Amino acid sequence: MNKKLSENMRDHLYAIDAGLLEDPLGQSLDLVYRCGVTDDFTRDLLKGRIHNHVLEMEKHGPFHRPRKLTQGDFYQGFDIKGQEIRFPVDWLNEPKLTIGTTGSGKTTLARYEILMLAPFFSLGKLSAWLFDFRKTEFGALQPYLARLEKHLNIITGRKMKLNPLQVPCSVEPISYASNLSDALVRVWEVPPVASLLLSQSIIQLYRTFGVLDGGQHYPTMFDLHSVIRKNTGSNSQARNAVLVRLETLLISVGNVLAYRKGWDVHELSKLSINFQFNDITEKDQNLFLSVLLLHAFMSRVAQSRSNAKMNLLIYCDEASRLVNSSDTSVSQFIGLIRGTGIGLNLSNQTADISRSILSNTPNKILGRCASATDYDVMGASMGLTAEQKQWLKIHLKKPGMFLASLGQAVHPFLFTVPNLNFKQSDFTVDRSFPELDRLPIVPAPEFSNWTTFAQPEVVVETTSSPLERQSEGTDATQLTLSPDEIRYLKEVVKTPKKPISYYPPRIQMGTGHALKIRKALISKGFIKLEKVQQSPGRGRPSNIVVPTSLAHDAVSALQGEC
Ligand SMILES: Nc1ncnc2c1ncn2[C@@H]1O[C@H](COP(=O)(O)OP(=O)(O)OP(=O)(O)O)[C@@H](O)[C@H]1O
Ligand SMILES: [Mg+2]
Repeated sequence: MNKKLSENMRDHLYAIDAGLLEDPLGQSLDLVYRCGVTDDFTRDLLKGRIHNHVLEMEKHGPFHRPRKLTQGDFYQGFDIKGQEIRFPVDWLNEPKLTIGTTGSGKTTLARYEILMLAPFFSLGKLSAWLFDFRKTEFGALQPYLARLEKHLNIITGRKMKLNPLQVPCSVEPISYASNLSDALVRVWEVPPVASLLLSQSIIQLYRTFGVLDGGQHYPTMFDLHSVIRKNTGSNSQARNAVLVRLETLLISVGNVLAYRKGWDVHELSKLSINFQFNDITEKDQNLFLSVLLLHAFMSRVAQSRSNAKMNLLIYCDEASRLVNSSDTSVSQFIGLIRGTGIGLNLSNQTADISRSILSNTPNKILGRCASATDYDVMGASMGLTAEQKQWLKIHLKKPGMFLASLGQAVHPFLFTVPNLNFKQSDFTVDRSFPELDRLPIVPAPEFSNWTTFAQPEVVVETTSSPLERQSEGTDATQLTLSPDEIRYLKEVVKTPKKPISYYPPRIQMGTGHALKIRKALISKGFIKLEKVQQSPGRGRPSNIVVPTSLAHDAVSALQGEC
C-alpha cells in the first residue's frame, strides 16, 4: 500500500478491500470516509472492524471471507464460519480446474456441484456430460438425480455409437477434416506430418462419398484405414504410424465405430450422460472425448454462438492424461471453449499439467496436495501471496476443504462442502439409455466382422527398378523389398530388439552395406530404431532395431509364399 496515504485512507482502503463495508452501517462509514469528515467515533468503529478482521485472519488463515458471494443460484458450499456461498450459475461458463491429492475430496466436490446444479437440468437448456476415466463414480448420482426427476443416462465406452468422420451440424466438411486430423495427430501422438496425410485422405473420402456436396452418407474410420493403406506414395513413417494407430483402434473399439451415422453429438449435448470410459484404453478415451468436444465446440462456433449462456456442463474426473501435456486435445481446445456455452471442469491429483490448461482456466480450486510444488504451482497461477501459500501447506489438510479462485470473484476464498455418503449398495444403476437409443443412426454392418487388415503383398525385387515395374503394370499398392532387405528383415523379426551391430554378422553382410539396407528399411517403415540404456545409469544409450507391425506382416506373407 502507498506509504504516502494517511492512516485514515489506509484503513478505509483495507476495509473496502476486505469487504468490511457491505452492510448498511458499513456503507455509512464508507460515505463518511469518502467525504473526509471522520471523527473519533467513526474511526473507532472502522478500526474495530479491521481489528476483528485481522484476528479472524490469524485464526482462519490469510484469506478474505467471501462476504459478497451471497446471491445467485449456484451453491458452492460453506465458508469457514458456516455461511452459505452462492454466486450466479453463469460464472461456471468458464473452464475450471480442480487440483488435490488422492482423498482430498475432488469427486465429492464434483458430485456436490452437480447436485446443486441439477434443478437447472432440462432438455436443451442445461445438461451435463460426466466423464469417468478410471473409476465409475458419477453413476452414483443417478438415483439422487431421479428424485429431482432428472434422468442421467449411463453409457460405457464400448456401447457408444460414434463416427468420428461424421461432420458436425452447420460445419464445413473441409474445415472439420483439418481439425479432426490435428486432433487425431495429438491423440495418437503420431508425427505432425501425418496431419496432412489424414486431412487429404479424409477430404478424398468426403469427395468420394458426396459429403462435400452436402451428402450425409459418411465414410467410416474403416474406410479411412483402407484409403491410407493404399496410399503408398505418402510419407512412409507417417503412414505406418497412422496405420498402426488405426488398426489398434479398429480392433479394440471397431463395434463402436461401425456406423455411417453415429449419434449426433448436437443431440447428445441436450442429454445428461455419464460416460463410463474405464472399459476402453486411454488412447480410445482420449479419442472419444476429443471427437465429442470437437463436435460440440465446432457446431457451436459455426452457429456463431459466442458468449452464449451455459447449456452444457462437462466434468472430467481424473483427467491426468488429458491435462499433463500441451499437446492433448483438451489443452488445445481449452483456450477456445470459453463463451461457447460449454462449462468445462477438469480435475487432477497434481499440478503437473500443461501451461495452456493453467493459463486458460479462470476458475481454480485447490484442495489438500501431497507435494509443496503443487501448492507453489497452483498458488502462483491463483495469484496467492507467499504467506497464503505457506498457510495452505500447513493448514489445508481436511478432505472437503478447498481454496477457490474464481475468474469473477475479487479474492480467493476458503470453503468446505459436506461429505456425501453415497452407498453403491443402496441402489441399482439403470444402464439402459432409451433417450440415446431413440437417436437416429445408420449402421455399417459390412464392418461388424472386421478383425484385422489384409496381409500386404511383398514383391521380391529382381533386376528391374520400381519405376520399371510400375510401368510394367505392377500394383502401386504393393510393397517392394530387395533380397538383401528381406534377409535383414527376417533376421530382425526372428531376433528383434538387438543392437544394430548384432545383425550384419548373422546374415553375413558387410557393415557398410547393412547400413544402407537398414536405412532403406527404416524409410519404408519396416523397422525403427529405439534408444535403450544397456547398463543402468552408465554410458550412452545404444540403438536397438525394432520391427514394426508391417515387418511382421511382410515376413509372414513371405513365409506364406514359400
Ligand atoms: N467434504 C468432505 N467432508 C468430509 N470428508 C470427505 C469430504 N469429501 C471427501 N471426504 C472423504 O474423503 C474420501 C475421498 O473422497 P473423494 O473420493 O471425493 O476424493 P478424491 O479427491 O476424488 O480422491 P481420488 O483422487 O483418489 O479419486 C471420501 O471417501 C470421504 O471419506
Ligand atoms: Mg476422485
